[in-house]
Amino acid sequence: MKLTVVLASVREGRAGEAIARWFVTRANERGTFDVELADLKELNLPILNEPDHPRLKKYVHDSTKRWSAIVGGSDAFVFVTPEYNYTIPPALVNALDTVYHEWTYKPVGFVSYGGASGGMRSVQTAKLMVTGFKMMPMVEAVNIPFYTQLMENGVFKSNELHDKAVPVMLDELRRWSEALKTLRG
Ligand SMILES: Cc1cc2nc3c(=O)[nH]c(=O)nc-3n(C[C@H](O)[C@H](O)[C@H](O)COP(=O)(O)O)c2cc1C
Repeated sequence: MKLTVVLASVREGRAGEAIARWFVTRANERGTFDVELADLKELNLPILNEPDHPRLKKYVHDSTKRWSAIVGGSDAFVFVTPEYNYTIPPALVNALDTVYHEWTYKPVGFVSYGGASGGMRSVQTAKLMVTGFKMMPMVEAVNIPFYTQLMENGVFKSNELHDKAVPVMLDELRRWSEALKTLRG
């Protein structure tokens, strides 16, 4: 079972990179999935530029074909996401919009970070959007409020709550990815 961790922030100096690296390390240690990082900054997807609706899969751009292969080859996802104005970053919205069937019947968990909210409002908006792809969003999540207090020289230093939340979310993701596999055919 392959888990793709999507790093949603593409800003210069983003905190998301340190948090995603921490999560990938922990997920690898847990061993529930084969884990890959999909960094939206590196992938540099153009703002949706395909002529046809993604449901038709008539992709003309190599960038879309690459993204389709990554998403289509995954059994589960974790979105590592900040909160921008109470919602998910535009790069994540765009990555979601760019393909369609590749997301369907797959579970998604969230590692969110921010100020007092720990990115929770962003996760709520993501949940609304992912159900349009027939994805299953996890209740179990890793929320990181006041993440700035946990950054040391660019490295994210988790606390006990985060450490405990990771395996709980991963185990639930695994359960759902097994169950949904039957729908994926
Ligand atoms: C455009 C923008 C909007 C933001 N809105 C929120 C917000 O609604 N809630 C919040 O907790 N933090 C907000 N922040 C602060 C972010 O939590 C902080 O900048 C964080 O580092 C963003 O993640 P990143 O560095 O990985 O991009 C916002 C930051 C930006 C750049």
